[in-house]
Amino acid sequence: MTDYAETDRLLLRQFTAHDADLLIELDSDPAVMRYLTGGEPDLTPDAVRDEVIPSLLNAYERWDSRFGLFAAHEKETGDFIGWFLLRPLRTGPLDEVEVGYRLRQDAWGKGYATEGSRALVDKGFAELGVTMVWGETMASNVSSQKVMSKLGMSVVAQIPTPEDMQGVEGAERGGYRFEITKEQWDRR
Ligand SMILES: CC(C)(COP(=O)(O)OP(=O)(O)OC[C@H]1O[C@@H](n2cnc3c(N)ncnc32)[C@H](O)[C@@H]1OP(=O)(O)O)[C@@H](O)C(=O)NCCC(=O)NCCS
Repeated sequence: MTDYAETDRLLLRQFTAHDADLLIELDSDPAVMRYLTGGEPDLTPDAVRDEVIPSLLNAYERWDSRFGLFAAHEKETGDFIGWFLLRPLRTGPLDEVEVGYRLRQDAWGKGYATEGSRALVDKGFAELGVTMVWGETMASNVSSQKVMSKLGMSVVAQIPTPEDMQGVEGAERGGYRFEITKEQWDRR
């Protein structure tokens, strides 16, 4: 198991070939998927096993273990609480990366999303040569916006809801793109 980052309360590690069930269970909670699909899991269990897990493992190789999607565990209990991501677009520049998070409902409201993503943003700027971190969320996903604001990110654009998310609650309000640059992070 390859650790990626550690905070006061969380350990972030690379996913392994044996982790499909963690992802399948996380996505089976309609509250978790509320602003992503409207409540349904976005993928079938077979697709998680046969496509998602191999693609996550490939991504660690592609980016020399510097970026990707990482499983988060509560240090005190060892429990899986969800995932965080820090990664460039597949064909994009390596110094501009997305931050993202998806946590189990029983882990919400404890500051974990802010704590885990702050560790990734800090690592990106301090160790990985990142010059800009971005994230996107629906206008109706207030908790996600609060997380990005607490990371020092600010709204740089209003964005339309993607075609495949038109059925999601609040789709008509569109979304926001947040960013923080290395200069802004240095001055924080
Ligand atoms: C988004 C998510 C990661 C936030 O997790 P969290 O553990 O609640 O986040 P934190 O505890 O770090 O803090 C979030 C902030 O949002 C607030 N918040 C939480 N739920 C909220 C809600 N429904 N409405 C308004 N604010 C809310 C918290 O109070 C906190 O703000 P505060 O420090 O000013 O009090 C979590 O809700 C989640 O996994 N959702 C499902 C997946 C998802 O939507 N991911 C983001 C896609 S863009």
